[in-house]
Amino acid sequence: MNIIEKILQLKKERNAVILAHNYQIPEVQDIADFVGDSLGLSIQAAKTDAEVIVFCGVHFMAETAKILSPRKTVLIPEKAAGCPMADMINADQLRTLKAEHPGAKVLCYVNTSAAVKAECDLCCTSANAVRMVREGLKDAEEIIFVPDHYLADYVSTQTGRSFIVWPGFCPTHARILPENVLQEKELHPEAVVIAHPECPPELRKLADCVTSTEGMCRYVKETKAKEIIVATERGILHRLRKENPDKVFYPASKFALCMNMKLIQLEKILWALEDMAHEIIVPEEIADRARASIQRMLDFSE
Ligand code: 13P
Ligand code: SF4
Repeated sequence: MNIIEKILQLKKERNAVILAHNYQIPEVQDIADFVGDSLGLSIQAAKTDAEVIVFCGVHFMAETAKILSPRKTVLIPEKAAGCPMADMINADQLRTLKAEHPGAKVLCYVNTSAAVKAECDLCCTSANAVRMVREGLKDAEEIIFVPDHYLADYVSTQTGRSFIVWPGFCPTHARILPENVLQEKELHPEAVVIAHPECPPELRKLADCVTSTEGMCRYVKETKAKEIIVATERGILHRLRKENPDKVFYPASKFALCMNMKLIQLEKILWALEDMAHEIIVPEEIADRARASIQRMLDFSE
């Protein structure tokens, strides 16, 4: 049996489902039951009938799956796969910020730890952040938005609201420079540019479409353009190419790699299923409070 056959057999024996983020390496995306963005993966985690979720993504994503499915076993094949942006704020720091703005409502990006989510009123992903502000927080006089100040800036341009922000950012998206996009545009003048809202504002201004990774997959299917410059983590190019064989994709930067996402490989998925490792555990008291902010987001997303 080859490794893929072994994984599929063990997956059946364990009654497991494999969820993978759009930035995972091609072999992992190809073996997954579902590939998507943070919002899509949360929805899948909440509704799966499987007893075990093998989460191929970074730690906060697996933690979100566990919070939404507390009775299921959630495994992350590589426990070192964290998100540097999520690690830029902790619960103590958020509590201090809240104490400085006692009347403010708190919106947290899903790229945060469970302990941070437990301190928030509402969670959002890049796919629904604008909607959460417009609908979920329409009556809020002041809003704290953590940790990504670039996403906060993007949402501010869309909603006209200003936020109390935290200086967090994604090192992978910050690495994509406007000059990289301008260079690609010069080489491919017919191409349209898609960018993730985690990109800095100077880069976003060059984009024809700013959206989440799932939004990119949708936009690319619908656009008449045949060439697309992609300003996000390069792993998504696998899915874009697979779903759109008639279109040509150019990564905006060869340096747009999230090494944490790349830590998960087929061997580690097999070992995770063999050893039932590494199990995600979230203390109940934190999980209950974090679930409230995630569930409010999911209720608005329907
Ligand atoms: P998406 O929710 O758009 O997939 O983004 C997650 C992420 O970590 C982007 O860096
Ligand atoms: Fe975190 Fe950025 Fe990697 Fe997304 S791409 S998981 S925000 S470090």
